[in-house]
Amino acid sequence: MRILAIESSCDETAAAVVEDGRNVLSNIVASQVEEHKLYGGVVPEIASRRHAEAIVGVVDEALSAADCTLDDIDAVAVTYAPGLIGALLVGVNFAKGLSLAADKPLIPVHHLRSHIASNYISHKKLKPPFLCLVVSGGHSHIVEVRDYTDMKVIGRTRDDAAGEAFDKAARAMGIPYPGGVELDKIAESGDDSAFSMPKPHVDGSEYDFSFSGLKTAVINLIHSREQKGEDIPVADICASYRRAVVGCLTDNFLKAAFDLGYTTLVTAGGVSANSLLRRELEERCRGRFDLYMPDKYLCGDNGAMVGAQGYYEYLAGHTAGSDLNAAATLPISENINSGK
Ligand code: KG4
Ligand code: ZN
Repeated sequence: MRILAIESSCDETAAAVVEDGRNVLSNIVASQVEEHKLYGGVVPEIASRRHAEAIVGVVDEALSAADCTLDDIDAVAVTYAPGLIGALLVGVNFAKGLSLAADKPLIPVHHLRSHIASNYISHKKLKPPFLCLVVSGGHSHIVEVRDYTDMKVIGRTRDDAAGEAFDKAARAMGIPYPGGVELDKIAESGDDSAFSMPKPHVDGSEYDFSFSGLKTAVINLIHSREQKGEDIPVADICASYRRAVVGCLTDNFLKAAFDLGYTTLVTAGGVSANSLLRRELEERCRGRFDLYMPDKYLCGDNGAMVGAQGYYEYLAGHTAGSDLNAAATLPISENINSGK
């Protein structure tokens, strides 16, 4: 089954053609990051306008790179939640139009489910059940993936997402948006024991995260050194901060895996490209857990992952009609048409 998949939840206009959920025939991503950089973060209205301009060309390119026309496509999948509402609506309306005009089924896809599904492309044999650490710019979740469309969140951030925590700390050090990527590179040459960072304490669920205290600590450290006229050892601060954030993510994830008896562990989302997170998990999982992480090019937002998850949503009967709407927030556990 060939799915044409569309993604426009944030600042990437993306489309792909994916066969049977695992085989990527094309994957085109048009990034707006250079424009949002000027403002230090994503400006929602600009994002929507750029999606509107780019979407026809990106979808055309995805079809031609896959050597397909609409006739060779069996269904259209689209990210419908969560994300920036204006941005999502561009993709949803475009996908609706295509599905109506070409008379193909329309498959709505949850953005975080698609991040998880990027692993089905990178690891052809991977199947649920597994425990997944989903870490992106907007979310930090520990998710029990019981089946392809049956998921339960058992840990979440109480404040900032991991990606947001990296981006905001980076910004305080003058690193341009999205600073997480650059902070990771700079941290490689720093001393991660140069500065001690607070260990966040979260009351209630033992698997929940909190990053706002860590982020404030690093911002205060920078400001206080600036006020005293001291130098800012950026690489050491990046390394110490990255070590602290990654420590929280891996500690909670591995504790949950032990407690719940999962043996297969998976990561997903933009932050799963972080080099320390990847090294740390590889080291701590060796001989104890089977670890799967997406190829780096599939960690950020893309259309291929939407096509992968779209396939399993279709098999589960989760299609939509022409009244499909977008949603800025939506729990990962919610299935369209299932009444859950
Ligand atoms: O999943 P994603 O592409 O978009 C959302 O759904 O939010 O994640 C983007 C986030 C940004 O905050 C970006 O700074 C972060 O992922 N990110 C990283 C790295 N690469 C991307 N954070 C830390 N280290 C990286 N190597
Ligand atoms: Zn994303």
